[in-house]
Amino acid sequence: MGIIVAIDGPAGSGKSSTAKEVARRLGFTYVDTGAMYRTVTLEALRRKVDVKNEDQVAQIAQEIIIGFKWIEDVHHTFLNDEDVSDKIRSTVVADMVSPVSAIPGVREVLAERQRQIATVDNIVMEGRDIGTNVFPDADYKFYMDADIRVRARRRIKDYQNIGQDLSIDEIVLELQKRDKIDSSRSHSPLKKAKDAIIIDTTDLTFEEQVNKIVTIIQY
Ligand code: DC
Repeated sequence: MGIIVAIDGPAGSGKSSTAKEVARRLGFTYVDTGAMYRTVTLEALRRKVDVKNEDQVAQIAQEIIIGFKWIEDVHHTFLNDEDVSDKIRSTVVADMVSPVSAIPGVREVLAERQRQIATVDNIVMEGRDIGTNVFPDADYKFYMDADIRVRARRRIKDYQNIGQDLSIDEIVLELQKRDKIDSSRSHSPLKKAKDAIIIDTTDLTFEEQVNKIVTIIQY
């Protein structure tokens, strides 16, 4: 088992960009577990499987191969052999990913895959339940959070990158809806692990949040 750095927190907390850079600086493998839930959601949409049909959605999680690859410094996600990096960021997927990730069968399959990755590599893994459920004994646990309007402002850029123009208010609503479902589901909800270090990024620059984490791990 390698060294495990768990980074949890809500959408827009700065988790993804920070986790990627921390992994790069430490030379660890970066694992985006949200992208795994999004990829299962995309495939369920394509097969027109209703999210209420939990067994069928869990079956999809079993069947598909989810892969990651760095291409010219950009992190890509693959569904079998197809690059779905942009498709999994669309609002259609964002709207459905919370109910999909609330399905216990889906969580069990993906958590098991996440544990397997750590048997070979040193990893920085980001998500919602990494420090609480996937790796309760992780070497380092961080919980990132920020004011909701700051989080929404960060998300605007993500949507612009894939050609979707949304207002701050629309994104605040989307985030609130997602936070509510993610924190109140019965199976491994979004929750700070008791022993996680809180990083509030409301007033931090990107550089500052990365340095905070890297410093704790290195010293
Ligand atoms: O980090 P993200 O926005 O890409 O995550 C997408 C969704 O996946 C999020 O709404 C909650 C879910 N998720 C989860 O339930 N558990 C994880 N470990 C990661 C993400």
